[in-house]
Amino acid sequence: MADPFIRVRGLEQKFGSQVVLRGIDLDVIRGETLVLLGTSGGGKSVLLKHLPGLMRPWKGTVEVDGVDISALNERQLAPYRRKVGIMFQGSALFDSMTVGENVAFPLRESGEKDEAAISKRVGEALDIVHLPGQEDKMPADLSGGMRKRVALARAVVGRPACVLYDEPHAGLDPITADSIDHLIKDLQVHHGMTNVVITHEMRSVFRIADRVIFLKDGRIHWAGSPEELKVTRDPVLRPFVDGDSGEPWE
Ligand SMILES: Nc1ncnc2c1ncn2[C@@H]1O[C@H](COP(=O)(O)OP(=O)(O)O)[C@@H](O)[C@H]1O
Ligand SMILES: [Mg+2]
Repeated sequence: MADPFIRVRGLEQKFGSQVVLRGIDLDVIRGETLVLLGTSGGGKSVLLKHLPGLMRPWKGTVEVDGVDISALNERQLAPYRRKVGIMFQGSALFDSMTVGENVAFPLRESGEKDEAAISKRVGEALDIVHLPGQEDKMPADLSGGMRKRVALARAVVGRPACVLYDEPHAGLDPITADSIDHLIKDLQVHHGMTNVVITHEMRSVFRIADRVIFLKDGRIHWAGSPEELKVTRDPVLRPFVDGDSGEPWE
């Protein structure tokens, strides 16, 4: 049996009376790239935010590296947050901070005080995303693709075992989207990371995914391999695969 790094069981979440997740069971296998597809508003981002404990289940459990994190307090969560890095939808950089300060943010938040260690880690993270020496730039001076790469550097600066990407391709031209795919695959193959990627970009799905799940109305509607996705006759998935998901470009 494959060894899950993250194990989600019976996860339900709601906001007020709106139920967003309706019982998710999901294993993220160590070392895989799992792609999360779904209808807009289907709960993909909400699901992703439960994995590093940024949201707490209303019902159900989330296990990271064998430990149920759903009941931990903020202090107890800190080591698990370091194991699971997240690249937020839309990059979400702090515009008033330099690139270097943005990338250093998770380290400072987790209590790291050693400035030499911080700047070494920040330099390594910027090297990984092919932006060496860009610490002093301001986010406003960067292209969309570079902002995405800074957001990715911030996600990997704590040397997580697993990286979560929320629509890393949104708004990028095909060539820049390809370069993000190369980075995602490079992290998996050369840095041993486990990846969970939300995207609408079919080219990317077939390039990076080891496994695909499709979320609809807060449930896993479909799960399979990229090969199975290609030939699926599921009427909900077919338009996505054929590149007519009805999703607006961001
Ligand atoms: N913090 C929040 N407060 C209230 N509603 C939220 C919150 N986050 C998400 N939602 C709602 O939950 C639903 C699922 O959102 P989301 O997970 O962002 O969808 P998507 O699959 O497009 O990423 C949406 O209807 C959204 O409006
Ligand atoms: Mg989303």
